[in-house]
Amino acid sequence: MSKNASALAAQIKAIAGDAPVRIGMILGSGLGHIADAVDGVAIPYADLPGFPHAGVSGHNPNLVIGDLEGVRVAVFGGRAHYYENGRADAMRLPLEVLRALGADTMIATNAAGSMRADMPTGSIMCLSDHINFSGLNPLIGEPTDARFVPMKDAYDPDLRRALRAAADETAVVMADGIYAWYSGPSFETPAEIRAIAMLGADAVGMSTVPEVILARFLGLKAAAISTITNMAAGLSDEAISHEHTKATAPIGAAKLEKVLRQFLGGLRSRKVINMVH
Ligand code: HPA
Repeated sequence: MSKNASALAAQIKAIAGDAPVRIGMILGSGLGHIADAVDGVAIPYADLPGFPHAGVSGHNPNLVIGDLEGVRVAVFGGRAHYYENGRADAMRLPLEVLRALGADTMIATNAAGSMRADMPTGSIMCLSDHINFSGLNPLIGEPTDARFVPMKDAYDPDLRRALRAAADETAVVMADGIYAWYSGPSFETPAEIRAIAMLGADAVGMSTVPEVILARFLGLKAAAISTITNMAAGLSDEAISHEHTKATAPIGAAKLEKVLRQFLGGLRSRKVINMVH
């Protein structure tokens, strides 16, 4: 744990209270409103030295700490992407802070393009694995042996099962699939999409993979859900643009919010049961 992270965690606890956070959630493009549902305090990233500027429109650059469905959460309303500043480890400090606040779990959300006809715009996908098509890594430069992070089951099987149960309970159709990280900020060419589809990817996006690598490095369990905002390049006549992403993200976001709330509600009741027994 870096000194910065400990200092930031102390600063955050002084504002939001000492109770340990259970789960951290990172919100993707067009998903920022989920932070508004949290009963707690919002701390602007600008007040947290070293936090990213989160300069992408459609993001909400606040850290919100409080209760959602009875579970204490830390919601990162925006993320930094590799393409903003060339740093694949841009989310390292926020995730270190999440750990220092007591969390053991990170759930990332993102907007993504789909390579599968049964995952149209407006659908959601729970990541089962990823392909790091960027060749970048947030742990390059990390000097300790901890950098050799195993990535089998990086998307925690128990978390995935619980998210799947939450989707079933709320009658939300949620696909399972493999996400390919493409660095951006330009979108992919149709040839690149054909290539990653051939390699086994189901969806493509510009985030999440470095965060999951960092989460595993820091000992956080990880899960991630994509909202499909478009068919990937060359697969439909639909326009691909950031405007389009922001416009279509709310369709999937409503489903994602239902699943996340049900999932958190389930955690709360499991905690109560654990306390009783
Ligand atoms: N490609 C990469 N990132 C994305 C896309 C896409 O098609 N849609 C939303 N984010």
